[in-house]
Amino acid sequence: MRAIRCVNYGAPSNLTLEEMDDPSPRDGEVVIETEAAGLGYVDALFVAGTYQVKLPLPFIPGSEVAGKVVALGTSAPGDLLGKRIMALSPRGALAEKIALPAASCIPVPPNMSAEAAAGFIVSYCTALYGFENCGHLRSGETVLVLGAAGGVGMAAIDVAKAMGAKVIAAASTDEKRAAAIARGADFAIDYTNPEWRKELEPLTGRRDVDVVYDPVGGDMSEAALRCLAPGGRHLVVGFAAGAIPKIPLNLALLKRCSIVGVDWGGYIRANPADNIPLLKTLTAWISNGRINPEPTASFPLAEAPGVLQRLLDRQSIGKPVIRFAT
Ligand SMILES: NC(=O)c1ccc[n+]([C@@H]2O[C@H](COP(=O)([O-])OP(=O)(O)OC[C@H]3O[C@@H](n4cnc5c(N)ncnc54)[C@H](OP(=O)(O)O)[C@@H]3O)[C@@H](O)[C@H]2O)c1
Repeated sequence: MRAIRCVNYGAPSNLTLEEMDDPSPRDGEVVIETEAAGLGYVDALFVAGTYQVKLPLPFIPGSEVAGKVVALGTSAPGDLLGKRIMALSPRGALAEKIALPAASCIPVPPNMSAEAAAGFIVSYCTALYGFENCGHLRSGETVLVLGAAGGVGMAAIDVAKAMGAKVIAAASTDEKRAAAIARGADFAIDYTNPEWRKELEPLTGRRDVDVVYDPVGGDMSEAALRCLAPGGRHLVVGFAAGAIPKIPLNLALLKRCSIVGVDWGGYIRANPADNIPLLKTLTAWISNGRINPEPTASFPLAEAPGVLQRLLDRQSIGKPVIRFAT
């Protein structure tokens, strides 16, 4: 099989496309013939070796996969053979085949493409967990999504709209703001403009919002938190800008707002069964067309290093997905 390998931590350009032996399933595992693999900012950090957890070298990057089950290890359920599934794995998705625990396989809804499935689980479960469990978002509230044209941001727009919110997308370029509007945001603002908070007033009829969804961090976090209405919730999702902001806590007191950590990965590691209701809601919303997780672009395997570099360079739009010829 062909696979992308990371032999040394560093720039994505160091990754190599290699011929490797097919994986064999161990007890309880299945082998997936990969149809698509989703990539995110975190995958680029794994390759750089700068994420909080380092993957041991060498490794095949990519943690989100969709494909068909083509082989079963002993004790893996026989009815999985031939099924279209999506799954998460700490590594290994940028390969034509991957061995995974059978228990991690989630059926792909009939009307969902492999590309959509590969880019779905992390960003959409994080959004629903964030808005529902952490942010207690109510229909009619206003949400400000930072980094709105990134993979995590686009899913947040889709889920917040499905929950009946008014969504303001914050993004750095015209192209990104257009992509956020195309995904369903009601308004888009340029948060690289130092005066951006003034743009909220004509959009909201006031200068504040109920929920901030923040996968960006850096200088943007405090400015966004200052936009919260009393009782507002600032959802801390990630730090794509690199710097981890230090927020003056008097702001939380003066604004009577909450700052809530959204660690979906930690939430489901603590109790994997807690993800079942999230997936049930989201797959029902896919079936009835309430959300649309189709990625904006997909790329062949050989272009994966370039895709990862664009994530690091703030050039990526939407959830990037690698498609495999099957
Ligand atoms: N909490 C969780 O459970 C969870 C789950 C998944 C991912 N995450 C985190 O969410 C964050 C976003 O992931 P993603 O896959 O959506 O990434 P992405 O597609 O690259 O989007 C991140 C966005 O952040 C903005 N940004 C601002 N400064 C940046 C910089 N210096 N470099 C790169 N981007 C910058 C960019 O938007 P503009 O150019 O418009 O500013 C970019 O579109 C990551 O930190 C990731 O680790 C958290």
